[in-house]
Amino acid sequence: MTFSVWLLVCFCGLTLGQEGLPQTEVATEIRSSFPDMSKFLIEFGAMKAKLEAVETNLKEKSEALETKLKEKQEVMETRQKETENQVLVLKKKDASNIAFSAATGGNGNIGPFNTDTTIIYRKLIINVGNAYNQHTGIFSAPVPGIYYFTFFYHAAGTQVVNLSLMKNNEIVVTTYDHKTSQDGADNGGNAAFLQLQQGDHVYVRMYANSHVWQTDHITTFSGVLLRPL
Ligand SMILES: *[C@@H]1O[C@H](CO)[C@@H](O)[C@H](O)[C@H]1NC(C)=O
Repeated sequence: MTFSVWLLVCFCGLTLGQEGLPQTEVATEIRSSFPDMSKFLIEFGAMKAKLEAVETNLKEKSEALETKLKEKQEVMETRQKETENQVLVLKKKDASNIAFSAATGGNGNIGPFNTDTTIIYRKLIINVGNAYNQHTGIFSAPVPGIYYFTFFYHAAGTQVVNLSLMKNNEIVVTTYDHKTSQDGADNGGNAAFLQLQQGDHVYVRMYANSHVWQTDHITTFSGVLLRPL
């Protein structure tokens, strides 16, 4: 800028007055009146632009990173689902082999007790798939499906027999024998097809004041998976 232009700028700045000056003219005035300030403003502007560029860059990068992470997570979730499905398929295949038969074992009466109890059939005949527990008397469905259960008893005729096949807390089927002095012994039982969910419990409840006779062969509980669902 030549000296005359500087003068002209100063003149304009003065003649136009202070109020209502357009932005560019104020800037021009400042630039002309305070050369140091003007340098500062230019540098400040450059810094601001740089900062904005950095900010934009960071934002873009973090967004890209987030998208990548999301994609990775989706891939992992899909893989996990696939694995879970495969496990279920394998379990169902394996489940075609679930069957148990057990007798009470021992020798003599079980009961009568003054509370309801679960009969524990301790003497395993078979337990393919290990879904029946010979320590608790409870069968626990390893997979959803249609199952078939039977239970038979032998007992003295002089006392009541009162048993139910239970699904969780529901009575499914019952067998009962009256107290009589005419016959020496009784044999009875019942059976049912059941649709079970995974984890459902099936067992035989012996009601209070009833009893059964136990040996390795006579009072039994059996179950088999017919078809996984
Ligand atoms: C078997 O026992 C249950 C529970 O005590 C009782 O409600 C039921 O009446 C008994 N069964 C028969 C046939 O009496």
